[in-house]
Amino acid sequence: VTDRGERLGGERHWLDRLIALIPEGGALLDLGCGSGAPIGRHLLTQRLRVTGIDAAPSLIAHCRKRLPAGTWLVDDLRSLALGRRFQGLIAWDSLFHLGLRDQRRLFGRLADHADPGAPLLFTTGPKRGVALGAYRGAPLYHASLAPAEYRALLQAQGFELLDHVVADPACGEHTIWLAQRSG
Ligand SMILES: C[S@@+](CC[C@H](N)C(=O)[O-])C[C@H]1O[C@@H](n2cnc3c(N)ncnc32)[C@H](O)[C@@H]1O
Repeated sequence: VTDRGERLGGERHWLDRLIALIPEGGALLDLGCGSGAPIGRHLLTQRLRVTGIDAAPSLIAHCRKRLPAGTWLVDDLRSLALGRRFQGLIAWDSLFHLGLRDQRRLFGRLADHADPGAPLLFTTGPKRGVALGAYRGAPLYHASLAPAEYRALLQAQGFELLDHVVADPACGEHTIWLAQRSG
């Protein structure tokens, strides 16, 4: 894992595609929003109402201070139940911090938070596997299901897969999924 800094790189293309599928002024949920930069900050410039959730209170405090136009909540993806639906969802580089079972369960939660027609953009690892690495001296957990399982989970929760690129060379080798909840 590297710190990519605060500038958007190859993510921009995917964010633009996500944004194009959300009605103007729509509500977008950013799951595992981190520091809010560069993604949350970019989304806020696009006439979207952004709600970001992250498990790290320090990161949410940072978002509240730097991006007051957004709504920033300390919450856990594993128990997320906001009781409302959004017109778009993004989980960029956050799913793989969850265990495999929690990732499977998350897809039901994503559906519970998605309006009909809402796009969903997320990244995963390129293939099934669990790895324990290190980031700035702290243990860092990475887990991914097999691509076929993500496809099946999307389908089971009523999301149509619009695009999927494994290890996108134009986007830092991210494995990217763009789906849309059936209308
Ligand atoms: C690699 S960062 C990505 C941040 C941001 N989405 C981005 O792309 O810049 C992963 C984020 O997921 C958050 N995270 C990890 N596990 C989580 C959980 N169970 N619930 C909520 N957030 C979690 C971490 O705190 C961290 O901010």
